[in-house]
Amino acid sequence: MLFRLNEEHLMIQKAARDFAQTECLPGVIERDEKQKFPREQILKLADLGFLGMMVRPEYGGAGMDTVSYVVAMEEISKIDASVSVCMSVNNSLVCFGLQEFGTEEQKQKYLVPLAQGKKDGELYIGAFLLSEPEAGSDATSQKTTAENKGDHYLLNGTKNWITNGGTASVYLVMAQTNRSKGSRGINTFIVEKNWPGVTVAAKENKLGIRGSDTHSIMFNDVKVPKENQIGADGFGFKFAMRTLAGGRIGIASQALGIASGAYELSLKYSKERKAFGTEIMNHQIIAFKLADMATRIEASRLLCLKAAWEKDCNLDYTVSSSMAKVFAAETAMWTTVEAVQIHGGYGFVKEYHVERLMRDAKITQIYEGTSEVQRIVISRDLLK
Ligand code: CAA
Repeated sequence: MLFRLNEEHLMIQKAARDFAQTECLPGVIERDEKQKFPREQILKLADLGFLGMMVRPEYGGAGMDTVSYVVAMEEISKIDASVSVCMSVNNSLVCFGLQEFGTEEQKQKYLVPLAQGKKDGELYIGAFLLSEPEAGSDATSQKTTAENKGDHYLLNGTKNWITNGGTASVYLVMAQTNRSKGSRGINTFIVEKNWPGVTVAAKENKLGIRGSDTHSIMFNDVKVPKENQIGADGFGFKFAMRTLAGGRIGIASQALGIASGAYELSLKYSKERKAFGTEIMNHQIIAFKLADMATRIEASRLLCLKAAWEKDCNLDYTVSSSMAKVFAAETAMWTTVEAVQIHGGYGFVKEYHVERLMRDAKITQIYEGTSEVQRIVISRDLLK
């Protein structure tokens, strides 16, 4: 067993770190304050091949492995989690789902530009529409319907908390086609944002990841051609679960990055800031906090890399990805709160970044399955 990144992973790590420092760090505080979507940064991510990292080259992707994705997500999330969530959703929830379960026609039409992040020179990304106003964790209880009308479906309903909701050109939408069948009566459809009957509500005003583009999306008699259905009838819920298992590796890596970003800032500050005649890191109460941060972050990193490795080896990674997500998310929340504490008053103002990281950390315990949902997935497996 080798606990070491290879040359290619190290190159990707450096590219992601350089990108985060030169492209994401400038303006990150202002984008957070003004809730400004990081369009320029996402376009540059597209040029780096980071929007379709694991898509095979014949479909326009970079053909990298999931370990590379974890490494890149950590580096970018250290600096700007609003950029990395957009990257994660496009890679793991949208491109993965299409590459794995789409038809050849769907791949040519949608996956190729989504993996490149551009179409005709313009930004072209996707979103994943599962959650609803009254169906978040209990995803089977969704109310959006798709009525079979012969050569097309008629889509009606509302989805919410949709990352990339306003910016995406393509939505992967889960909808009930046969309510009596419960989770087996759900299909997934590819829907284009500019089709008649699609309405994008106002951007949500959020606690964290404020640059990211979160909206509700309404469907009113939207005609969806049959060829835009992904997989067989009734496959929609399993599609969502299979796709989310990979997505959770992405969000776990985002949480890992937020935690390591806060830790690096805290370590630096502790070596510079003096109190009671010495740098604060020489006080055991601070040194022990840093030691605990470093340990929990390393454990999170190993869980993320293990889940990624299992995915790359075509092993079942469902439980590992849930373990990585719940642990890394809780590490991110704990680490960022402690980072603010170490910084004292400076931690409470925006210029020192840690208060933003603390606000950004919270969502990693909520989206793509709350920490409670991850514990459902893990405990059900233990009890099998
Ligand atoms: N892979 C394949 N199939 C799976 C599966 C998986 N990982 N998990 C469940 N299934 C299958 C089951 O085998 C079962 O199939 P059969 O009917 O054939 O037996 C079916 O799906 C139903 O499974 P459950 O009975 O386990 O379903 P449940 O209703 O008890 O729900 C749950 C389980 C884990 C709680 C699930 O509902 C869940 O993950 N909820 C959270 C949803 C979520 O993560 N939402 C986030 C949305 S995306 C987002 O956050 C927005 C964004 O833009 C970032």
